[in-house]
Amino acid sequence: MGLITPNDFPNLRELYTAQLRYLLSTENQIVKGLPAMIEHAEDTQLKQAFQSHLQETQVHVQRIEGLLQELMGEIDDKKDPILTAIVGSGENITKETESGPVRDAGLIATAQKVEHYEIASYGSARDWAKHLGLTNHVSLLQKTLDEEKHADQLLTEISQRTNSSASIAA
Ligand SMILES: [Fe+2]
Repeated sequence: MGLITPNDFPNLRELYTAQLRYLLSTENQIVKGLPAMIEHAEDTQLKQAFQSHLQETQVHVQRIEGLLQELMGEIDDKKDPILTAIVGSGENITKETESGPVRDAGLIATAQKVEHYEIASYGSARDWAKHLGLTNHVSLLQKTLDEEKHADQLLTEISQRTNSSASIAA
């Protein structure tokens, strides 16, 4: 079967490195996508939440770049198609709604899909780093993971208000 299925990840370290490369692509796509979400959000608190998460995400990119540099001696990402699909579906929601609470509800849903995906990815990466004895990686990944969880909680809080406005929007 080895001839048919290439063994690109013969060990956990290789799998971990690939995970970080996907995460770098994830974070870079978020940096690219958030300005449009900031622009399209109507709710002021939502705009601010996206704005501050953009700043956090720029730091997340730097953290992963540093970890990859240490692991591989270079910074190279791996295109993450899942994030591309989530961002694409979010863009469709924006095109198919008018500015206001319903669009805001859609923007929050898209952002939370991204956050949950990141939380899962960072959680695995952090656990793998632990098993690989990469203690400096563990603490940086944990920091990012905590920020992703906080961003997700904040979106849930904001959605309490925007969803109730959306439910009565004509
Ligand atoms: Fe992030």
